[in-house]
Amino acid sequence: MTFKKLIPYAAAAAFVSVSAHAMDFAKDEDAVNLRKAHMDLVGTYFGDMGAMIKGKKPFDAAQFQSNADRLAVVTQWSGEGFEGKHLTSDSKAKPEIWENKAEFDKLMKAFSEKAGKLKIASASGVMKDSIPAFKEVADSCGSCHKKFKNK
Ligand code: HEC
Repeated sequence: MTFKKLIPYAAAAAFVSVSAHAMDFAKDEDAVNLRKAHMDLVGTYFGDMGAMIKGKKPFDAAQFQSNADRLAVVTQWSGEGFEGKHLTSDSKAKPEIWENKAEFDKLMKAFSEKAGKLKIASASGVMKDSIPAFKEVADSCGSCHKKFKNK
């Protein structure tokens, strides 16, 4: 099969979602810790891609693609820990999340879809093909953080 014929399959695979049964957290700090660990993971993969795009480290197509694959998978449950209102002094989440939960959930869903598109774009192995999708994901991080995360 040629690469072009494989693309629709890759696209379908990127949008297969992991079953989403929300966890029930006994303690607020458990939810906060999960959220922070999860976002750290997101930040690690995305940050490495950003370093390549910004020329801070050499572009490595295989590494970039692997980061994009991982990001597309983990963002399928980035909403975990945000279902119920769990806040501690250690959390940077704004209480507005739970006053505008539908909007927050929509941003999370868009985030995951954009990460799926970045994964597909990265499959070409050419950095410039991934730049528009990378920027869309970056906008997702920024728009959610601006509204729902304290500095
Ligand atoms: C739909 C909302 C949303 C999106 C999209 C989102 N984040 Fe976050 N992020 C949050 C919230 C809310 C917190 C604060 C969580 C807390 O402290 O309880 C956070 C926290 C973080 C943290 C701090 C973790 C820590 O240890 O305190 C990092 C790093 C981070 N996000 C990176 C990213 C990056 C990079 C992206 C995009 C690739 C992204 N986030 C996308 C909502 C979002």
